[in-house]
Amino acid sequence: MSQQPKSVYLLAIESSCDDTSAAVFKDDVNLSNLVANQDVHRQFGGVVPELASRAHLQNIIPVVDSALQQAGITLDQLNAVAFTRGPGLIGSLLVGATFAKGLALTLGIPLIEVNHMQAHVLAHFIEDPKPSFPFLCLTVSGGHTQIVLVKSHLDMEVIGTTTDDAAGEAFDKTAKILGLPYPGGPLVDKYAQTGNPKAYTFGKPKVDDLGFSFSGFKTSVLYAVQKQQRLDPDFIAKNLPDLCASIQRTIIEMLMEKLELAAKQNNIKEIAIAGGVSANSGLRNAIAETGQRLGWNTYIPRFEYCTDNAAMIGITAYYKYLQGEFTTQDVGAVARYEI
Ligand code: KG4
Ligand code: ZN
Repeated sequence: MSQQPKSVYLLAIESSCDDTSAAVFKDDVNLSNLVANQDVHRQFGGVVPELASRAHLQNIIPVVDSALQQAGITLDQLNAVAFTRGPGLIGSLLVGATFAKGLALTLGIPLIEVNHMQAHVLAHFIEDPKPSFPFLCLTVSGGHTQIVLVKSHLDMEVIGTTTDDAAGEAFDKTAKILGLPYPGGPLVDKYAQTGNPKAYTFGKPKVDDLGFSFSGFKTSVLYAVQKQQRLDPDFIAKNLPDLCASIQRTIIEMLMEKLELAAKQNNIKEIAIAGGVSANSGLRNAIAETGQRLGWNTYIPRFEYCTDNAAMIGITAYYKYLQGEFTTQDVGAVARYEI
């Protein structure tokens, strides 16, 4: 009689920016996924790295405890510990990395390091429907804008990227111009719901092939708003929904144009979006509509798997566990985690 393979329990930790998150997996089944947000940054209009590291230190033990409790398991049942190695803020990454490393050493179990951007893509494998290989993933977050050709769970190639700002930054920085607090992306989305997306036209920088550029667009919004404010100091307050809807439409057009090109060039109709900006309602609609028009199968993650979360680290770690891709536990190595 053949033996059933034993299940593995994985604890995953994500601490690359300003969210402290822990998740537990039994094989590829997500048992818990908790995120502690850090409100402390709001008053500064952006993430303050030093404050983020301190908040991670305060949050990490309670968040891990709750994730284990919600999953109904104890530390001694864990078979591996995974963490985000990068990219991210160095101080924030170090908190997650040292915690995970200490725990793995204490329990005598493997440690698995995970690339944050790869994890955003693999968030699509946490639940059904899952894309089939090869597929394209538009990964859009606060720090990155990438078109990724995904050949298998662990084999992916970035075929398009930004030369300056990321799409999330374009949302956040233009929101700041409008006086909205950080992070502005979700607020632009909210105000855009009642605005006219064609009310204003902003500059769209031309970039070759599958590249993106958002810094010229941001400057174009700044100059347009400043010009109008000289004529009417209340210009923003009177036109906020139209401004947000126009900003959102322009960013989405820039993203969709290159995604369509990538799909055509690679002759692929399996198309996914991932990362914090994939929570944007306009982008979600645009993907669905373009998919219908061009016969794509589209994959849009549930909201909790769009923004930073440890479940995406856990599912990536599961595939690495199956391949035996473990990381060194030598104590000095933690100092070399890159941003
Ligand atoms: O993936 P993520 O949580 O963190 C990074 O890895 O950067 O992405 C955060 C980014 C921020 O720029 C935030 O403004 C943006 O995602 N974002 C949104 C929305 N929700 C989050 N942007 C536009 N519309 C949204 N609904
Ligand atoms: Zn992210």
